[in-house]
Amino acid sequence: MRKALVAGNWKMNGRIAKNDDLVSSVLSGLASGNLDSSVDVMVCPPAIYVGQVRAQAVATRLMVGAQDLCEFEDGAYTGEVSAEMLVDVGCSAVLVGHSERRTLFGDTDKRVAAKLSSAVAAGLAPILCVGESLEQRDSGDTLAVVEQQLLSALSGLSPEVLDLLVVAYEPVWAIGTGRTATPEQAQDVHAHIRQVLATIDGPLAEKVRLLYGGSVKPANARELFAQKDIDGGLIGGASLNADDFLAICRAAVAG
Ligand code: PGA
Repeated sequence: MRKALVAGNWKMNGRIAKNDDLVSSVLSGLASGNLDSSVDVMVCPPAIYVGQVRAQAVATRLMVGAQDLCEFEDGAYTGEVSAEMLVDVGCSAVLVGHSERRTLFGDTDKRVAAKLSSAVAAGLAPILCVGESLEQRDSGDTLAVVEQQLLSALSGLSPEVLDLLVVAYEPVWAIGTGRTATPEQAQDVHAHIRQVLATIDGPLAEKVRLLYGGSVKPANARELFAQKDIDGGLIGGASLNADDFLAICRAAVAG
């Protein structure tokens, strides 16, 4: 049985006071007993606020992740943040290859693979994001695109080091658009991802949590999470509102 995971991707949002309020509300929701421990809950603030959020969340069940990392080890890389630094400030996971990084900041498949290796080497759980554009979906290439992104990111890594791997399927056309994949569309891609993982290693495929991301809201979360191969969600906009985020977490318990 895979444990559900709901991770909030705050993207480039937040201020010290606002983060404090949001995390306090999430923590009191988690502590109120409305959400049993069958779901893992994580937030991924901007790197500069990771330490702040971690200090608030320490000794609670709220896990803290980062949104990106540098593929290189510490050194002369002005402006970058290494995997070891993320571990040092208390991160347990990091998003790798989010579509905004791929399309806006030049994260190629090769760089995504290098970032994933660095995360793994540092003991961080990599949350690998894959997903097709609208054009690719319309031309019937969804499964091929997702498969290619997945295999290229994992190439060169043996299944034994992929223990903590999480994969997030995020159709680019559904991110921040209010347009969600239907539960069936998402399940089809998730099933394919699991099949592709099985070609690498059977037990690994059964163990890896597959998250859906792209306009997940309290109103659609339950149906998505009820799908056989959807083990939780990566939540952007709705993770900035504590009530919505907690409602989505509760939907993962039922799923
Ligand atoms: P969204 O973003 O929930 O705002 O669509 C999801 C994501 O990009 O991780």
